[in-house]
Amino acid sequence: MRHHLCIAGAVFAAAAYAESHSPPPDPEPIEIIELPLPPVAASDQVGSCTPELNPHRTGCIPISSDLRGGNFLPDGNHVIASLNFTGSPPAPDPASIYHGLQFILVKADGSVFDNGDPWKCITCGMPDANKVAGFESAEYPQAFKDGKRALVGNYIIDCGSALLASPECTPEQTHIYPVVWSEGKIRELRIHPDNVHLGFNSFTQVNGKLGQFAYFGRMQFNGSHYEVIKVTRLFNPDNAVPLAVQDGRITLNPEAISVGELRGFSGSGREVTYIGYPFESSNMDACAVDLTTGKVRRITSHPEYVDPLDISPDDKWTVILDTRGSNRQMWLSGMRGIPPITDMITTSAISSTRNNGQRRFFQPFLLDHDGDRGSYFGQQLNGAGDGSPGAINDPNWNARADPKWSPDGTRITYYQALVTAPACGEQNPLPCPNSTAPGGRVDRLMLATLTNRKPLDIPPVTPASDDVPWGVPVGPNTPPPSEPQLPKIPQGNYTLDGKVGGFADVEVLMDDAGTSIRTIGVVYHDFSNDGINILRGTERVTVTLPSISKNLVDWYSDLTSTGGTKSTKKTSPEGFHLEIDTFTNIFYAEGSMVTTVDGEVYEQPANWT
Ligand SMILES: *[C@@H]1O[C@H](CO)[C@@H](O)[C@H](O)[C@H]1NC(C)=O
Ligand SMILES: *[C@@H]1O[C@H](CO)[C@@H](O)[C@H](O)[C@H]1NC(C)=O
Ligand SMILES: *[C@@H]1O[C@H](CO)[C@@H](O)[C@H](O)[C@H]1NC(C)=O
Ligand SMILES: *[C@@H]1O[C@H](CO)[C@@H](O)[C@H](O)[C@H]1NC(C)=O
Repeated sequence: MRHHLCIAGAVFAAAAYAESHSPPPDPEPIEIIELPLPPVAASDQVGSCTPELNPHRTGCIPISSDLRGGNFLPDGNHVIASLNFTGSPPAPDPASIYHGLQFILVKADGSVFDNGDPWKCITCGMPDANKVAGFESAEYPQAFKDGKRALVGNYIIDCGSALLASPECTPEQTHIYPVVWSEGKIRELRIHPDNVHLGFNSFTQVNGKLGQFAYFGRMQFNGSHYEVIKVTRLFNPDNAVPLAVQDGRITLNPEAISVGELRGFSGSGREVTYIGYPFESSNMDACAVDLTTGKVRRITSHPEYVDPLDISPDDKWTVILDTRGSNRQMWLSGMRGIPPITDMITTSAISSTRNNGQRRFFQPFLLDHDGDRGSYFGQQLNGAGDGSPGAINDPNWNARADPKWSPDGTRITYYQALVTAPACGEQNPLPCPNSTAPGGRVDRLMLATLTNRKPLDIPPVTPASDDVPWGVPVGPNTPPPSEPQLPKIPQGNYTLDGKVGGFADVEVLMDDAGTSIRTIGVVYHDFSNDGINILRGTERVTVTLPSISKNLVDWYSDLTSTGGTKSTKKTSPEGFHLEIDTFTNIFYAEGSMVTTVDGEVYEQPANWT
């Protein structure tokens, strides 16, 4: 039995890892350019997109265009995106169609379309009759491999028999079809590489609480809608769970499947990627699970926060967006080898401290198949540059979901937003950066070329089965799960044995209603799961939820770890008290929590930052 998934090594000290893991790759050369976008209008006023700004009369965008970068068309020469246009003249001026939220293609090979623009708006000027429903959500644009369709938000944009990039793909030829599921509202859709199936997340009422679950299904076009059929919930309450109790003892199972939030699929489509229950306390990681076998693979282990990711077409590489390097979360997660016990109640609050509104801290990193291990934590894709305003590694430009591989595996596209108020300026102590981008815009679409790589020759993707053997098929009569997915154990005192040595005493207290865990206390006695880090001390956390999104956290830590590193995680004597809203992610705390790792001191962010 391999336990490589749960090995909690020291951050910067070599950790043991299973022999099956290959040596980490050497850094490779990466070239980064910015892809062109439409010009920025002088204002949002009608007509502010003047012929001087855009002589081709093909539209302008606002400074903040809500850009959502997507993947490549199958030809590898175009990147798709959605964004807002503004400032168009009134109808009947032909330029009036460049208005509001639209779907565009951007040339990724330096060439231009027939009209001389390096971009093409696909949806601008579509007849109303071709839009079955309002097209208002523009998340996660994903082109199909037929080159004729793209999923954008919960809609499929379809150019019929014409390739999206061809002159034949006209507004009249284009249709927008909604994707619907009869059992609920679907979110965060990701197309499976077989282009027939998809994955998505959905909220469900579970015992009066909001539970998020991930699903897998098949898309079926009925002439006016894409219906999602043959749906499987990727959570089966009867499966092994990451944390369970038996005879007064807590057992941790890092091989348990916990698809908290579905994030996509591997290049071959054999795995679904997700963010799930942590393997180490306060350390959110990216995982993949095989759709057929249910085998779980932990991709990241760095203490910092990750969530968007994309696996290469040959499954051999992953690009992640991660806060690593920013030290945003190290005060909370930098100490390695703490088992994920308090996480039964803290994952929402922990995930929310990763960013400050529009300051997201995410940068793209390249990881090989086996992911973080030992002292290997990948290569920052945009690590070159001098860090100055507007440089490719300017820390004020933060990446947003999702990064995407080119079909031939030699390039990656990602997009970034510049920090804007109120995440800077005004009452925020951080000054707002001035944009150096054209027109002062605060979005940019990027292209990374891995110059040493040869184009991949990828065999056609094997169509996925409708059946996910470890999931639960969902039909009209399937009852929702009786509990949300986060592990929950009854009130009581428990023992957790270290895999290698020592143990921990765990106390779990429920809220007054007896329905949710309110407090978790842990006392570590020379506890070690990995034989590297040896943990002593106490931790006690109480979480209350005054509203659906607000978390009040009272945290007391006095932990010491020896072995892999000399680390401490300590709160001030009066405790650390965090108030955070998971919808806005604005940090506010009284008291302090400090983590030290081999003399390196990591402190929490200042309030409001
Ligand atoms: C984008 O355009 C839509 C419709 O024109 C508007 O409602 C929305 O607020 C705009 N978004 C941004 C970020 O400006
Ligand atoms: C297609 O599916 C949608 C959504 O379920 C439904 O409203 C519509 O009537 C269906 N159309 C046909 C032709 O079956
Ligand atoms: C941005 O530009 C304004 C006006 O020129 C200037 O006052 C301000 O200091 C600049 N901000 C930064 C962070 O450089
Ligand atoms: C756990 O054990 C302690 C010490 O015996 C006791 O005071 C406490 O009430 C117990 N907690 C629970 C939840 O049973």
